[in-house]
Amino acid sequence: MRSPARLTLNNGVQMERLGFGLYKVPPKDADNLVATALGEGYRRFDTAAMYGNEVGVGRGIGGAVGDAAAANNGTGGSGESVHTLSREDLFVTTKVWNDDQGYDATLRAFDTSISNLGLDYVDLYLIHWPCAGRGLFAETYKAMETLYREGKVRAIGVSNFQPGHLEELMQKAEVVPAVNQVELHPWLQQTRLRTFHDQLGIATEAWSPLGRGQVLADPAIVALAEKYNRTPAQVILRWHLQLGNLVIPKASSAGRIKENFAIFDFELDATDMDGIAGLERHHRTGSHPDNVN
Ligand SMILES: NC(=O)c1ccc[n+]([C@@H]2O[C@H](COP(=O)([O-])OP(=O)(O)OC[C@H]3O[C@@H](n4cnc5c(N)ncnc54)[C@H](OP(=O)(O)O)[C@@H]3O)[C@@H](O)[C@H]2O)c1
Repeated sequence: MRSPARLTLNNGVQMERLGFGLYKVPPKDADNLVATALGEGYRRFDTAAMYGNEVGVGRGIGGAVGDAAAANNGTGGSGESVHTLSREDLFVTTKVWNDDQGYDATLRAFDTSISNLGLDYVDLYLIHWPCAGRGLFAETYKAMETLYREGKVRAIGVSNFQPGHLEELMQKAEVVPAVNQVELHPWLQQTRLRTFHDQLGIATEAWSPLGRGQVLADPAIVALAEKYNRTPAQVILRWHLQLGNLVIPKASSAGRIKENFAIFDFELDATDMDGIAGLERHHRTGSHPDNVN
């Protein structure tokens, strides 16, 4: 079974396979949702400058780590549920937005992001979209390599890059991207891209791992949920883990946040993994990378 809780990236950094996604989480709700997810055991959070909620995410994280610091030095803080957490226990991803591509603009955007998050460093910094028409992703990546060398980010990578974008980037890059975060779920399995990632040593991270909720109603997934006595979301997330994907489901209620985390104590058999492979429809719930500039 290929699904340990952590993945070692190509630079040795360890990353929890399951994280919490924060796209479309309103800024005012982000700190509470992060705190809820921390309470359920999530240690990895995926945000982006474009999501507009970095401040709230940072507050949620800072609350947990701050409480720990306060509890540990005896100056107060609840310190009850998460008092053993330190910054090093958490993994925060954010992304440079399309309008900030380019060397200098990316460095400035990064400063804004860490200031919003209230952090000294981020664990993973991604180029949100290649925006090939702008012709700036290689320069953007150079800025990320600078941040990486300066120790301000523990790993760098890309998002929504297709094989051609990766080939072009690799001709100029000095650091192999650690991660490519792409839309991936049973209706869009990205088989060719995943093989390419494996050849290059790039980890595959699945965004919209539940197909924005649409794939939950697929009759084959519903049948598997009944067979394993799990929910459709748990079946899909378990499939991701067994494929070797990093995965970042988003959910808005404590019940779903908890449900999506409970995927480490069962296993889909090989026949059922093959059955899900057969659900491919090349169906996107989000934009095609060629259409984003
Ligand atoms: N790099 C990129 O370009 C990019 C693009 C899109 C997303 N992302 C990242 O990927 C993350 C996840 O993607 P996503 O938010 O688009 O979609 P998703 O995680 O595939 O699906 C989220 C939807 O599924 C519902 N849901 C979650 N758990 C459920 C459960 N157990 N039972 C029933 N419904 C459930 C949620 O409802 P409720 O919210 O109502 O609970 C929400 O409507 C994002 O938050 C973001 O961090 C990255």
